[in-house]
Amino acid sequence: MPSNQNVGFFVTGTDTEVGKTLVSGALLLLLQKKYSQVIGYKPVVAGISLIDGEPQNEDLVTLALASTHEAAKDISNICPYILETPSAPHLVAKKNGIALNYDKMLDGYQVLAKQVDAVVVEGVGGFKVPFHQNKDSADFAKDIGLPVILVVGMRLGCINHALLTVEAVLGRGLTLAGWVANTIGPMNLLDENIQSLQQLIKAPLLGTIPHLNQELAKTPYTKLALETAVSYIRLPD
Ligand SMILES: Nc1ncnc2c1ncn2[C@@H]1O[C@H](COP(=O)(O)OP(=O)(O)OP(=O)(O)O)[C@@H](O)[C@H]1O
Ligand SMILES: [Mg+2]
Repeated sequence: MPSNQNVGFFVTGTDTEVGKTLVSGALLLLLQKKYSQVIGYKPVVAGISLIDGEPQNEDLVTLALASTHEAAKDISNICPYILETPSAPHLVAKKNGIALNYDKMLDGYQVLAKQVDAVVVEGVGGFKVPFHQNKDSADFAKDIGLPVILVVGMRLGCINHALLTVEAVLGRGLTLAGWVANTIGPMNLLDENIQSLQQLIKAPLLGTIPHLNQELAKTPYTKLALETAVSYIRLPD
């Protein structure tokens, strides 16, 4: 198997709660089919809940589940900042007197990228979520330079959100490797919305994930849920 190819993707979304973690986990499983050492990363998370009796973050549990590299066994390797309150990270950090050091977020990524064959970075919220020190999630995407995959949470308003995000991604000089239509809920004219987006976004649709049943949609996601998502999407060429 190839090693240290530095294959990777930055997964952004039209908003928070649109399925970035579901798609990131699925992409990691797809990458596992081609590479042995894969890992997920997220520069900062906000929100802790009791999972198997331990305080953990759902996104990180999912990313760790879909990673093969042993560094993922220690959650602090895949995310340098685990904040307790589920809210905008820069506000939670400020309220708790925590300085979010941007270089620490970049370093955490760089250390992993050197060790693995492939990495999937899950963005925080939408594309331009602020961090600290006048940096935001878009700066982070730019600085790591990975091709971007956009998760569009299919709901009313998503066309505008998707197109604004595409503009911002391309405006940063980044490559949009593809997008995923994620059916987060019932939507009128779903197929027509997807067709419109296909015409308007100049990057391939990597797949449409249907609305998952309650059991599969539960977070943190199970391997079965991620495998289900895998069956609907593909990696970019
Ligand atoms: N295809 C789907 N079918 C049903 N529910 C879904 C689907 N995709 C996501 N969800 C639900 O939407 C919520 C958000 O999903 P997820 O955590 O993957 O989004 P996210 O973009 O990573 O959120 P965050 O911004 O908090 O990181 C979850 O509760 C999940 O169960
Ligand atoms: Mg997430």
